[in-house]
Amino acid sequence: MSEAAVTGDGHACPPAVRFVEPKLNVVEMLDRIEREDAIAVPALTPDYRAWLLEEAYGAPFREARGVVGRGERLVRQRMEVHDGFGPESRFRDLTRQYQAVWDARLAPLSDYPFESRLVFNDMMLQVYQPGETGITPHMDRTAYRNLICLFVLEGRGRFGVCEDRSGRGARIIAHEPGDVVLTRAPGFRGSDHRPFHFLDRITKRRYVFGLRQEQVQR
Ligand SMILES: [Fe+2]
Repeated sequence: MSEAAVTGDGHACPPAVRFVEPKLNVVEMLDRIEREDAIAVPALTPDYRAWLLEEAYGAPFREARGVVGRGERLVRQRMEVHDGFGPESRFRDLTRQYQAVWDARLAPLSDYPFESRLVFNDMMLQVYQPGETGITPHMDRTAYRNLICLFVLEGRGRFGVCEDRSGRGARIIAHEPGDVVLTRAPGFRGSDHRPFHFLDRITKRRYVFGLRQEQVQR
């Protein structure tokens, strides 16, 4: 489906209520992310999730590189990606609205938890097919700062954090479609810590939308 078809068919209005409130307040969320590296919290209402999925189903995905890095640092992955979002993309609506959610959460805090203003400037839609590898344990690039948000739109897979590339000490972050998985990144509460993490056991086609803050090189 083309962008124009998605946005021009009269059904383009988002639902009135986009997000569900997590049961934790912002300080509880940040404390848990600091302790546990990653947490999953409910985020998208069923209507909003369905509205976003409509666009995801028609997105022009491309195959991502199957192997990243080499030698000891080799990471295997199997996924398709899409990041060419048009001006009317529903994922721009999600980005704007979720930015506003975090702006409102952070405004009252006397201790700002990030090294710089949290700004989601990197959007990526990914799809994983059942039975595929997922991604072997790795750290994300240092250019990704503060907080990484992965919205699980649909599907099943196992996301976990671990201590090293072998997957030692793995802890599974249980989650459901509609949840957002929040993972700490360098710049979170004065630390450069980058947790190892992985995705495996894709049992149902999995659509994930990622929001990140990419540090702009000066
Ligand atoms: Fe990653």
